[in-house]
Amino acid sequence: MKLISTSNYQELSQQAAKEIISRINHNPSLNLGLATGSTPTGLYQELIRDHKQKQTSYKGINTFNLDEYIGIPKKDRNSYHYFMCEHLFEHIDIPLDQTHIPDGTAKNLDVECMRYEQFISEHGGIDLQILGIGQNGHIGFNEPGTPFDSRTHIIDLAESTRKANSRFFESVEDVPKQAITMGIASIMDSKEIFLLVSGASKAKALARLLTGEVSEQFPASVLQKHENVTIFADKEATALL
Ligand code: PGA
Repeated sequence: MKLISTSNYQELSQQAAKEIISRINHNPSLNLGLATGSTPTGLYQELIRDHKQKQTSYKGINTFNLDEYIGIPKKDRNSYHYFMCEHLFEHIDIPLDQTHIPDGTAKNLDVECMRYEQFISEHGGIDLQILGIGQNGHIGFNEPGTPFDSRTHIIDLAESTRKANSRFFESVEDVPKQAITMGIASIMDSKEIFLLVSGASKAKALARLLTGEVSEQFPASVLQKHENVTIFADKEATALL
């Protein structure tokens, strides 16, 4: 794993954006895996700024998001569909039918998981996957204990995750208890991975990722086995290294 440490969050976002834009310029039909949460929002702002200033085009790009809450309609402001439209898709030239996110309102959720997994393979797999990390080491919504050979699946969210994400909801009771997430094996199939880590609250997780053992109890540790991972981390996140 390659570590790029930056002096602050803005620089982290700019450096990650620069690398993504270079991948897009190199391959205008890149399959780009995307993440939600607070960490990638600065990156998305940088991509939007670049699109407006330098006209980098997303017309040939397909995007695949990691996860979606179960039971939250797409138009709800707390759905990850809504998040992605608001933070990225509405502001660039990507055709919406080339943006893909699991459907957490599907009638048959098991079928939806299989469909999503197969859909990604049919598109040739993910070239570059953007990831954040949970304080408990989750990647996507793969909580501690998720098998490393998992494919897209339904997950019960850890209470710590629901609490962390309750900042977007009126109360923790409103945070869904389940989500659909790409599995760990699905994520590991990506040809390249960018992991973004920002802030003091992630310092322990980053230290454990870099120095701890590979264990299903700390899902991100699986990344030690991937051949092409770049970690972008700001000063606060690297404080314990
Ligand atoms: P965050 O979420 O970027 O909002 O901290 C990351 C995650 O939980 O994977």
